[in-house]
Amino acid sequence: MKLHKILMAAGMLLASSVALATPATDELFARYKAEGAAGFDAARGDKSWHKESRGEDGKLMSCATCHGEDLSKEGHHHKTNKVIGPMAPSANKERFTDVKKIEKWFKRNCNDVLARECTAQEKGDYLKFLLGK
Ligand code: HEC
Repeated sequence: MKLHKILMAAGMLLASSVALATPATDELFARYKAEGAAGFDAARGDKSWHKESRGEDGKLMSCATCHGEDLSKEGHHHKTNKVIGPMAPSANKERFTDVKKIEKWFKRNCNDVLARECTAQEKGDYLKFLLGK
């Protein structure tokens, strides 16, 4: 019984410490660190993801405005209503596999939501949060 509990705790620890990654995100994490970011935090990414701010067109929005609340489901572009595939890598194997694509959309979407580009720190935190989904 006791051993069983210990094994369970060890298993849970292991499960929670295994962060998913792709070669593309490994490359980006290294790049963001070289640009001055100091380690990445999924909880911080989560908070920024849901934080509303005035975007480029003056409207209050967050990343969830287009990507939706449940990242394992499809999202919708707030203006065009175009379907956006699920952001969670567990639901969408294409996610976060292409450095150029990731950087292109960070640039665009950060401007949409924050009316500026994201910092290396912010991008790393977003990725850390998204990879766990
Ligand atoms: C105006 C709608 C909209 C908002 C708001 C938005 N996104 Fe996106 N995002 C998109 C679209 C459209 C795509 C590209 C289509 C796709 O990848 O399915 C995309 C793709 C991405 C990708 C690329 C994922 C990959 O597969 O490589 C990242 C990263 C991303 N968004 C991050 C963010 C972050 C961070 C925020 C908040 C700062 C945000 N998005 C807010 C519409 C939006």
